[in-house]
Amino acid sequence: MRESPPLGAKSGRRKAASALRKTATTLLMLVRVTGLFQLILGILFWSGSATSLIPLHITVGILFVLALLGLAVLALRTAGGLATASIVWGVVVAVLGFTQTGLVPGAAHWVIQVLHLLVGIAAIGLGETLGGRLRRAAQS
Ligand code: HEM
Repeated sequence: MRESPPLGAKSGRRKAASALRKTATTLLMLVRVTGLFQLILGILFWSGSATSLIPLHITVGILFVLALLGLAVLALRTAGGLATASIVWGVVVAVLGFTQTGLVPGAAHWVIQVLHLLVGIAAIGLGETLGGRLRRAAQS
């Protein structure tokens, strides 16, 4: 017959799960808030306004990527493949963001702009999935 774990170990595990849940929730909220902010600013840039806020967009973008990477690192044990893909994707978001103004200049630059938008939306989706999985894992 298997012995049940001592009470101390059980409450330790519960505390760790609660800490994981709180951290995952905070990072997920950060992904949501910064992601939405990026989308709104980006759409404004697209319409030719608020371009003086590009440095703010870049700073918030870094925060967004860090929150996604944080979720991915936390999920490495529970969702290894998706977590690794999210780390790679986070790097793609940052590299594309930092280089995009110089990529494909001229009439076809809109392709890069659409790509930047789609890559960002996919990153928000990855953050949502990772956050959901982490919170479910911490509950069970
Ligand atoms: C490290 C992350 C990011 C960096 C460094 C970055 C950088 C930039 C820059 C420099 C621009 C202006 C480009 C131009 O005027 O030609 C821009 C525009 C834009 N960004 Fe970001 N961005 C980041 C993340 C995101 C994310 C996560 C989203 C969406 C979820 C997003 C959505 C947009 C949109 C829609 C535009 C307007 C269209 C465009 O110019 O591509 N960005 N971004």
